[in-house]
Amino acid sequence: MHDRRSFIKRAGFAASLMAAPASWLVAAADQQTLPRRAIPGTSDSLPVIGLGNSNAFRRGDVSGSTALIKLFHQHGGAYIDCTGDSRFVVASVADSLGIAKDLFLGTYFAGDDEATMRQDISRLLAMTGKKQLDLAHSYPEFGEPNWDLFRKWKYEGLTKYIGVARHHESYYDTMMKMMATGTVDFLQVNYSPLESAAGKQVLPMALDKGVAVSINRPFINGDFFKLVRGHELPEWAAEFDCTSWAQFSLKYILSNPAVTCVLTETANPKHALDNIGAGFGRLPDEKTRQRMVQHLKSL
Ligand SMILES: NC(=O)c1ccc[n+]([C@@H]2O[C@H](COP(=O)([O-])OP(=O)(O)OC[C@H]3O[C@@H](n4cnc5c(N)ncnc54)[C@H](OP(=O)(O)O)[C@@H]3O)[C@@H](O)[C@H]2O)c1
Repeated sequence: MHDRRSFIKRAGFAASLMAAPASWLVAAADQQTLPRRAIPGTSDSLPVIGLGNSNAFRRGDVSGSTALIKLFHQHGGAYIDCTGDSRFVVASVADSLGIAKDLFLGTYFAGDDEATMRQDISRLLAMTGKKQLDLAHSYPEFGEPNWDLFRKWKYEGLTKYIGVARHHESYYDTMMKMMATGTVDFLQVNYSPLESAAGKQVLPMALDKGVAVSINRPFINGDFFKLVRGHELPEWAAEFDCTSWAQFSLKYILSNPAVTCVLTETANPKHALDNIGAGFGRLPDEKTRQRMVQHLKSL
């Protein structure tokens, strides 16, 4: 079983420092918790592994959500991405654990009238004890026509950051149009070794514009595991401290310099620990990244 101690041992402080640019490792001195990367243009940072909208949150499974959030927090995790009623499950569990203020919640607003969305914001703030939301984001199809509203919320101090979030190439043009305004703080987009189209234009633009990036679909919503099932991890994966197929994808993602953090969806604490492990140790270089893609294509 992977515990925090084994992460520290496996990761190796020196190796981690050598592998990642210094600017990425805001809190690298503390190897007991996940390394963090800066939110561009701010003094804030985020741990490199985040949690997606787990089925445990969706089901309203309080004991499952508690186990997951507690474990994640113990390893320095902070960013949880959640939508709909899941956000209230997360807020309630985090409050019960007394850690709500340590978390960074990315929550979606789309489709409701403003009064309803403001009620949801007030409810979340009351539950977490926070003075403002961390990140209010929306899908491009709602966010773009309603962007003035998001900017107003930020101006009022209702939310610290605003962003746009989607998971398919068909949204990239709108995402880039929105980033071109210079007012998008966060982009959330799909990216992984087998779904790497965002690496061509979208991620370079985010890097250029100083937009923080969280990645969704690191495992193509589970399809990645169908592809690798029954195949041994190649021996050379050890060269970048990779011990599982999940880490193979996550380390590919984290080695793109535009990426601030990856959102991993799981309801299984063992999988969550595996994913957290990807935040430690070396990352693949460009040549190795290409080899990783070729290897997956050959399976
Ligand atoms: N804004 C948008 O339009 C949008 C769209 C898609 C996703 N997202 C966000 O991105 C998050 C992640 O993307 P995703 O939903 O596509 O899911 P994903 O993280 O790509 O894949 C989740 C699947 O992988 C499995 N899994 C996770 N870790 C594993 C591990 N270490 N070993 C084996 N299996 C593992 C999970 O099963 P178990 O539960 O059994 O671990 C689940 O079936 C979402 O939760 C959401 O927050 C946003």
